[in-house]
Amino acid sequence: MIAGGGKMEGKKVLAINSSKRKKNTYGLLQQLKEQLKEKNTEVEILNLFDYDIKECTGCEICLRKGSCILQDQAEELMDKLRGYDGLILSTPVYMGNISGKLKVFVDRTCRWFHRPELIGVPTLFVTTTAASGIKDTFRSLETIGFQWGAFPTDSIARKSKDLNRPVDEKEYKSFLKHLHMPREKYRPSTRQMIHFQVQKVLAEKILAIDKDYWEGQEWLDKNYFYDTKASFISRVTALLVYKILYKRIK
Ligand SMILES: Cc1cc2nc3c(=O)[nH]c(=O)nc-3n(C[C@H](O)[C@H](O)[C@H](O)COP(=O)(O)O)c2cc1C
Repeated sequence: MIAGGGKMEGKKVLAINSSKRKKNTYGLLQQLKEQLKEKNTEVEILNLFDYDIKECTGCEICLRKGSCILQDQAEELMDKLRGYDGLILSTPVYMGNISGKLKVFVDRTCRWFHRPELIGVPTLFVTTTAASGIKDTFRSLETIGFQWGAFPTDSIARKSKDLNRPVDEKEYKSFLKHLHMPREKYRPSTRQMIHFQVQKVLAEKILAIDKDYWEGQEWLDKNYFYDTKASFISRVTALLVYKILYKRIK
């Protein structure tokens, strides 16, 4: 039941496991899957290692022409990501940050930084670690979310010593709330608003294909991808960043 007492509409969530092992991080995803099932939310767990994803070669053809020339399953996966109400992005902490497999995939989504496609998709971040690296890893996962146009919500972490502590409902409260909330009620952070304005300047100044896309989406005269409840301070700060960048970038 939602706060107002009504029944929750069924939602579909994709959870990405980016460890080769189905162990610590995967275990958290399994718990989330079971718990969210009780909330009328179906979680599909996808193992990134089941997908053939080649390293970006740096040709930038995807940016200039629209899609990648490499023959593998990255495009198929990007297509798949578009089909869900919410995302769970998970990684073990490797050397203080996200796993290599996840980074390889994220690099292949580079065109989404220019022409984002996961607009407003609520995203939950999950990580496990022996002990360190949680902050930087979440920072990276959040950045990925912003770059895709998604909406970062909660972050769940476990260290080895507390790996057995069950996931508490409170840890994904915001994720669940956003899954069931109209976007106009979202409240993007200042960082999110700035990110949008930076993406917008780049779209206006760098590549014609980006500008066409942003025009088509009717984002060029907006403060964010959609109407939100962002604070006045966030709007003004982000707009200032836009104006400074607009003058600087030729
Ligand atoms: C390549 C590699 C790098 C790691 N780097 C860190 C690290 O920087 N800090 C840390 O505390 N744990 C580190 N760990 C431990 C893992 O983050 C931890 O065991 C995690 O829970 C593994 O998740 P998994 O079972 O889903 O693979 C590392 C493990 C590996 C294999």
